[in-house]
Amino acid sequence: QQLILDTIDREKEIKDTRTLTIPGDAAPATSQEAQLVVQGALNSLLSKEMVTYSMQEAFAYALTQEGNDIADKGSHEAVVWSVLPLKGQGTPLSIKDLKQKVGDETAKIGQGRAFKNGWIAKEGDGLVKLVQSIDDTTRNELAEIRATGTLAAGEKAIAELRKRKLVQQKKLLWFSAQKGSNFSTSLDKLETDLTAEMLQSGAWKTAKFKKYNFDAEGIPPNGGALHPLLKVREEFRNIFMEMGFAEMPTSQFVESGFWCFDTLFVPQQHPARDLQDTFYVSDPPESLSPPTDYYEKVQKVHTVGGYGSIGYRAPWSDADSRKLLLRTHTTASSSNLLWRLANRKGGFKPVKMFSIDRVFRNEATDATHLAEFHQVEGVVADYGISLADLIGFMQTFFKKMGIHNLRFKPAYNPYTEPSLEIFAFHPMLDKWVEIGNSGMFRPEMLAPMGLPDGVQVLGWGLSLERPTMIRYGINNIRTLVGHKVSIDSVEKSAAVRF
Ligand code: PHE
Repeated sequence: QQLILDTIDREKEIKDTRTLTIPGDAAPATSQEAQLVVQGALNSLLSKEMVTYSMQEAFAYALTQEGNDIADKGSHEAVVWSVLPLKGQGTPLSIKDLKQKVGDETAKIGQGRAFKNGWIAKEGDGLVKLVQSIDDTTRNELAEIRATGTLAAGEKAIAELRKRKLVQQKKLLWFSAQKGSNFSTSLDKLETDLTAEMLQSGAWKTAKFKKYNFDAEGIPPNGGALHPLLKVREEFRNIFMEMGFAEMPTSQFVESGFWCFDTLFVPQQHPARDLQDTFYVSDPPESLSPPTDYYEKVQKVHTVGGYGSIGYRAPWSDADSRKLLLRTHTTASSSNLLWRLANRKGGFKPVKMFSIDRVFRNEATDATHLAEFHQVEGVVADYGISLADLIGFMQTFFKKMGIHNLRFKPAYNPYTEPSLEIFAFHPMLDKWVEIGNSGMFRPEMLAPMGLPDGVQVLGWGLSLERPTMIRYGINNIRTLVGHKVSIDSVEKSAAVRF
């Protein structure tokens, strides 16, 4: 780098970097290896804008293995000539003896050329030299090419040697370099970071910073890997698709109390709606108005009942209904979907829908709980379906996941009746574990939406994290989700489980 800077300083520019003589070397750096070293130095200076440079191409000639051999030992014809006696001064050498002396190959090629050059002649059954001394042009030319990369005798001679496969063409890069906008002859080290110390001392004002190289390609990643949660999500998605389900839109993380709870017939006094359990959003302060007609029906069924229900007979708060919150379950989206289905232009149509998305709960986090997780949820709406269909669906659904033995336990959800908790036998834990929650949606929820009489809706939900942890043998959720997850564990987790 210093040599380049000094040379440019002295001569204004470097026209051809092959003229540079690296300190300590006897001759200019003409070899390709030397030019690559020069290019490294130029790149480094370019990044500091101390120089600019352009790359040039030249062709040079180099010897092949055979070419090198000849340059060292002489051409085949010269070797043949050298072992023969001079005409009239000894017994001619038989072909057999020649072959023995110089080898078959040299004897064969060398004879022909030596004859052609007039160096040797036949005498009786043997060979003799005709001349006392020879000029081994091939060897001399090769030696010249080896030393200079070219041949003064010109292209025709080179072409001849190339035809004989003694010489090959090589591309040689060289460079020309000029001053850059930051040119100077002193190579000061550029700063790569703005540090607290520089800010405090004021050194940043005069410091010179290294430019970012936005063209750098970076280190290629070893490969990508799907996070275990994404793999299991894909499995669930495939199972739903196989069973004829379509995916419902769930892109809304923020919901109102109305959609997350009221429409699901969750009483406004329900503990799940407490600050301790739900994350509320303060800005904006409240949701947009819900559809008036539907809102009034929901309020009515809560407070005084209807459709055969006596309701909760508890006070109703419009403010609670309009509170914004992070949805605590994807059933908020299911509810919205069912309401839209009931009010569909062409009228109600049976559906099978699913969703897999994120939900949020203001919970104490521990080894198996996080404040946000994913729910896998399915909804089937059709005429005349019953609890038997729900159980049948569960069995088919979980069988596809490899879980064959289910138990159902009566449970309670404000929005389903009957409700069933689903248990599966866990061979590793050697006990029955809860894997899902389900039920037939209540008339108090469905009737205000305007779903036609006779339409029943069944639904179920489970977390995505729990089956993932079981499958991958993870017992602390923090090693699966969050900042403590090691990228390594994701990259090494099996692509396929059996
Ligand atoms: N919303 C329930 C939960 O969060 C799951 C569920 C969905 C239950 C649909 C019944 C029907 O656990």
